[in-house]
Amino acid sequence: MKITIVGTGYVGLVTGTCFSEVGIDVTCIDIDEKKIEGLKNGKMPIYEPGLEPMVSNNLEKGRLHFSTSLKDNLKDAEAVFIAVGTPPGEDGSADLKYVLAVAREIGQHMSDYLVVVTKSTVPVGTAKKVKDAVQSELDKRGANLSFDVASNPEFLKEGAAIQDFLKPDRIVVGVESERARKIMEKLYKPFLLNGHPTIFMDVPSAEMTKYAANSMLATKISFMNDIANLCEIMGADVNMVRKGIGSDSRIGTKFIYPGVGYGGSCFPKDVKALIKTAQENGYNMRVLKAVEDVNENQKSVLVSKVKKHFGNDLSGMTFAIWGLSFKPKTDDMREAPSIVIINQLLEAGAKVKAFDPVAMEEAKRDLGDKITYAKDEYDTLVDADALLLVTEWPEFRIPNFSVVGKLLKNKVVFDGRNIYDREELREMGYTYYGIGIH
Ligand code: UDX
Repeated sequence: MKITIVGTGYVGLVTGTCFSEVGIDVTCIDIDEKKIEGLKNGKMPIYEPGLEPMVSNNLEKGRLHFSTSLKDNLKDAEAVFIAVGTPPGEDGSADLKYVLAVAREIGQHMSDYLVVVTKSTVPVGTAKKVKDAVQSELDKRGANLSFDVASNPEFLKEGAAIQDFLKPDRIVVGVESERARKIMEKLYKPFLLNGHPTIFMDVPSAEMTKYAANSMLATKISFMNDIANLCEIMGADVNMVRKGIGSDSRIGTKFIYPGVGYGGSCFPKDVKALIKTAQENGYNMRVLKAVEDVNENQKSVLVSKVKKHFGNDLSGMTFAIWGLSFKPKTDDMREAPSIVIINQLLEAGAKVKAFDPVAMEEAKRDLGDKITYAKDEYDTLVDADALLLVTEWPEFRIPNFSVVGKLLKNKVVFDGRNIYDREELREMGYTYYGIGIH
């Protein structure tokens, strides 16, 4: 079976590579020649654990190909996936110009029946726009070809994308014909055989599923952040509350960890887009508006604690930051709470020394030379007044706190992810601040 994937960003590249891994012949297309040249030589444009060896292996086996030409790679493909970017416009809605440009190109060059699948996260109703764009190009050239559109949202988590793709909780596919359904079933057969459920539905429902899933997860996080803030006021411990409620299987233990707010390329964008879609259609998403509001506020919680401890004027002080990416195991800095935290510290007159295991280069694009980049986590502590743990990378989990205490000017830790043992640190003479812990 042969498929073509347009867009070698995060979604496209992981999707294409994983399909080739299960034996499908995949061609990944991108207009960025440098990126494609790099990929042909096994050079990854993104950091994702396990991706590089998988790309190399499938390149070698001849199942994975990279090209800049969509035109030359539509023939024989049974499905073409659109996995290009949908950056948020100024008003928060997803910008579809890249998606629709690809749709038009497909219409200009297809020569046989195809399923045109949207894989990028696109608002409800986009498949219809894709259909119209393909059809109008077919009409222009007087081609009497049939095709179907389908929606196949991705649920990949950065840092665990390969695993998420190969062992999904579920696969959601929206189709509009039996013919398209058969092709999508064939494509996902290796996963179906392994017992991963594939849920077929109509196209708008599949499009909505993606937004509803991410919005629900964002809601869980904001809800817990709100509870955590109240726990602090009431003298409760959110860690205990989290365990207490998570053991109810209707609530579940996942995605109820309070912290410094959610970031990344999906949650902030999708929550905004769903609010916008609803608004455009005359509906007010009250819960999601609050989810956004709580999240914005949560990014300031750690610096509020710093100011409460050291005073509002932080001039002359230096703070060590551990972790810059929006979450561990990725170099992604999009909407990272670290950016807000660092800017607030700088605005209050402080200096910042930061370390991240992989996101330092990415961080330099956002933060430039406003901060000092340390060579490792301990190096951030030299002459620093306190430590702020922002991203819970595994390597930050069990530091040598005797060494930390000797390097820091003051034994003060602001733990933005509640990963340290408060009692242990307090016994060692530290002042410890967590989230939702008194
Ligand atoms: C998310 C979805 O999980 C995935 O299904 C979708 O396809 C894309 O968006 P991702 O953005 O990679 O994936 O990250 P995820 O692991 O979901 O974390 C998102 C954010 O929530 C991070 O900033 C993380 O720190 C935060 N988070 C997560 C919490 O603050 N608390 C939690 O309990 C869980």
